[in-house]
Amino acid sequence: LKFVCYSNDCNDEHMMCLVGLKNIFARQLPNMPKEYIVRLLMDRNHKSVMVLRGNLVVGGITYRPYRSQKFGEIAFCAITADEQVKGYGTRLMNHLKQHARDIDGLTHFLTYADNNAVGYFVKQGFTKEIYLEKDIWHGFIKDYDGGLLMECKIDPKLPYTD
Ligand code: ACO
Repeated sequence: LKFVCYSNDCNDEHMMCLVGLKNIFARQLPNMPKEYIVRLLMDRNHKSVMVLRGNLVVGGITYRPYRSQKFGEIAFCAITADEQVKGYGTRLMNHLKQHARDIDGLTHFLTYADNNAVGYFVKQGFTKEIYLEKDIWHGFIKDYDGGLLMECKIDPKLPYTD
């Protein structure tokens, strides 16, 4: 199992992985229009942390770092159907936190969680209480009905991965 972080940089291998992740999101997030998934995945302001087995994508998280405000917005998160509830979602989130802290300099994440995924986000340290000042994020992150805004503070020192 390997964890990587790629964005749309025209590298063939990275692009193949982003297409694999797009297919997982399209299937696992049926309420999201496919064009919207593709647009954000391929947008150069977004990055995707993925879990790969060989060169097959098992799942991933697409996010946008807002470096000057030190927070990231998680746009999409999913694990392929037959690999869910095996702990990959937790490991993926830990890799995301480590990468976002050490490479992007972020301190927090925000996301609109689907109702059925709130339990997963709570287990990853997300809360329904938003402690970040509204001025920092308001107008940057997209409002989205049917989702609950949640926040997670990234520990400044904890080693999230081994
Ligand atoms: N509701 C409640 N608890 C959950 C859920 C859920 N939907 N999914 C996982 N958990 C729990 C697990 O039981 C586990 O608990 P434990 O540590 O006590 O055993 C813990 O969360 C971690 O489970 P993992 O095995 O690491 O999670 P998994 O690999 O299945 O990934 C994920 C979780 C990403 C939600 C996956 O199930 C999935 O792809 N679901 C469908 C798509 C989806 O809902 N994505 C999120 C939409 S919101 C967004 O994208 C911003």
